[in-house]
Amino acid sequence: MESDKPVKTESKAAGGELEAAGSGVKSNIKEEMALLKKKAAKENIREELENLKDPARTQIYKSIFRVKHEPTPRSRSLGVLTNVFLHLHPAKINRDATRFSYTWGMGGITFYLFIVLTFTGILLMFYYHPSKGQAYRDILYLESDVPFGKLLRNMHRWAAHLMVITTWLHMFRVVLTGSYKTPREFNWCVGVLLLVLTLLLSFTGYLLPDDQLGFWAVTVGTNMARGTPGLGHEGPFGPQLGMTPYNDVRFALLGGSIVDANALLRSYIWHCIAIPTIASVLMAVHFWRVRKDGGISGPAPIALTSEMKGPGARAVKQSVK
Ligand code: HEM
Repeated sequence: MESDKPVKTESKAAGGELEAAGSGVKSNIKEEMALLKKKAAKENIREELENLKDPARTQIYKSIFRVKHEPTPRSRSLGVLTNVFLHLHPAKINRDATRFSYTWGMGGITFYLFIVLTFTGILLMFYYHPSKGQAYRDILYLESDVPFGKLLRNMHRWAAHLMVITTWLHMFRVVLTGSYKTPREFNWCVGVLLLVLTLLLSFTGYLLPDDQLGFWAVTVGTNMARGTPGLGHEGPFGPQLGMTPYNDVRFALLGGSIVDANALLRSYIWHCIAIPTIASVLMAVHFWRVRKDGGISGPAPIALTSEMKGPGARAVKQSVK
């Protein structure tokens, strides 16, 4: 029994040596990792600088334009699989990215509302004349005499309010999930334009009933344009650049110096033709880009140990401790 003691101390000593050796190896690995990271960062910077010589190789260029595939069989099949027209449905999707709790479905709901607005808007065009005197009478006619006219008008109005809210919420979710980062920077910019167009659609639609609410909203809104730097006659550098109430940006928006018949006609054309057309083209680019950027971004492929379930979870949790 006594002879056991020295053996124990020996094994303890050996254990201590092993531990020391282990921590030595660990710190060596850490040092090497740090060195490698530094090297990789330098390499990345060098590569980015090198790429600047040929803009087609920069990340920004690749996030905007189509990228040519190498002429190898693998790249060719990739070319087909990632082409929206040749392969409408993506070959694979990130399962977590399809979770409602991740996207809130806000992009899809916004697009759905745009379709509702287009459909109800076209039907409203059958009853509406964009001329002073007639416009407000058409609204009264829609409200009281046209079958389902009230429903049609309110579907259009409520869908418009909702689209503004869902576009903001969609943008908010993109911020929360960091989905504006590489490679989605360009799509973020397309999104910003879509937000501006959504707000402009709302604003131009507001005047169309030609009621007091719309009239004063557009009066206030376009009066702000007087103060546009360089382009408004009351804005910084405006007068110096020759701006007057009869040639500045407010005049261009209203088609005159007061909110009247021309303003109504201009609002109508922007609202029913120009902005929806530009927005439709940009939406097509937006969806195409989602696909090209590898589909909807997914949550990072790591799990919190507190969220782990199933066999093996305990072992993982203990190893992390
Ligand atoms: C008319 C307005 C818009 C429509 C119809 C629309 C539609 C969509 C749809 C259907 C998606 C797929 C993922 C999802 O549903 O969340 C998406 C993704 C995206 N949208 Fe929009 N969007 C609009 C406005 C915006 C705005 C205002 C921004 C930001 C400024 C934005 C930035 C993005 C980005 C970065 C993605 C990729 C997100 C990811 O991969 O996780 N979009 N959009």
